[in-house]
Amino acid sequence: GSEQSLRKWRIAFYCDKSTVNTNRRVTILDTTLRDGEQTPGVSFTLEQKIEIAHQLSDIGVDVIEAGFPASSDVEFETVKRICAEEGIRPKICGLARSVKADVDRCIEAGVDMVHVFIPTSEIQRTYTIKKSHAEVLAITREIITYARSKCDYVMFSPMDATRTEPSELIEICKAADEAGTTIINIPDTVGVSTPSMIKPLIAMIRENVKCKIDVHCHNDFGLATANTIAAVEGGADQIQVTVNGIGERAGNADLAQTVMILKSIYGIETNIRTEKLVETSRMVSRFSQIAVLPIQPVVGENAFSHESGIHSHGVMANPGTFEPGIMTPEMVGHRRRLKLGKHVGKHAVRQMLEDINVNPSDPELDMIVAKVKEISGRGRKVTEFDLFEIAKIITGSH
Ligand code: KIV
Ligand code: ZN
Repeated sequence: GSEQSLRKWRIAFYCDKSTVNTNRRVTILDTTLRDGEQTPGVSFTLEQKIEIAHQLSDIGVDVIEAGFPASSDVEFETVKRICAEEGIRPKICGLARSVKADVDRCIEAGVDMVHVFIPTSEIQRTYTIKKSHAEVLAITREIITYARSKCDYVMFSPMDATRTEPSELIEICKAADEAGTTIINIPDTVGVSTPSMIKPLIAMIRENVKCKIDVHCHNDFGLATANTIAAVEGGADQIQVTVNGIGERAGNADLAQTVMILKSIYGIETNIRTEKLVETSRMVSRFSQIAVLPIQPVVGENAFSHESGIHSHGVMANPGTFEPGIMTPEMVGHRRRLKLGKHVGKHAVRQMLEDINVNPSDPELDMIVAKVKEISGRGRKVTEFDLFEIAKIITGSH
């Protein structure tokens, strides 16, 4: 409708023209079960992993990274169970270091896609695998050729890509492409990229390889979601995310935020059934025991809550006044809530009372509002139940 054409107009006016591409789709690789489980303190049980895998399937992710089979026998058995599970539609991916034994372990577990990685930045090459660029290049060619001989789908990650010398990164990506990788993932392993750095980086890789490009952003500076979106602007075909943004250190790009930014602001579709985002967030919060902040975008308790009189009055007349409008609570499986507090207005209180069939007179309403403001002004929380009790006393109703 008109909001959509306004949005396109705004994007065309402010952004790089390459961003405006109406028919684009982006696929989603969810790594909640792999990078997400690497969150310090998080450990899912087998049953929880299977339940999460079904949920990810139901909401429409394209690829599930189920784990790192070579890391332990328990991990191997878990990935194997997920691969064997009936009714899971996405491709199942397993992580592997660039050694044949790791690739073999993924194949034995029954994955659809092997994700091989190798450090490419000087600091990681030197201090983790003690290899030169030339050696990494040779290993890349060999391992991709091997993995492709065992599996139709191979993803290759030059780890720490954003801190890798650009000419070396291009050389390695070209080698992986020539050796037959299906997709190259560009990881911002320690989250040091910015949107204006990663967009041209992805565009540069795009110019040098034929295969698809994916991106995996960490949140060390709080830029994981912004960088992921910028990577899509630069031409990424697939993005890696986790539910609630869990993952190593400060986590990864958040599924709900990235999908809704692409859908609502850019008009770029994914296969995600967005109305299940809140439900998915709650499940992973429960299993990971990591609480979602009330102010968390999209899925947080307050994402569509209004307390101030001006805002509540506005959204009662038209929700688009003080909400994005292009993203509604219904779109993400949320509810709009009017909250009680010291900024509450008369219209919101009247609406809340009418919803429970209490119809105070104007002077009674003034007294009810004054009481709510007085209690919350003392720093106390006022619930809808408290409001009902206050109204009962003031109106003399039962
Ligand atoms: O952050 C990272 O670089 C990773 C790789 C395994 C892709 O998680
Ligand atoms: Zn990672």
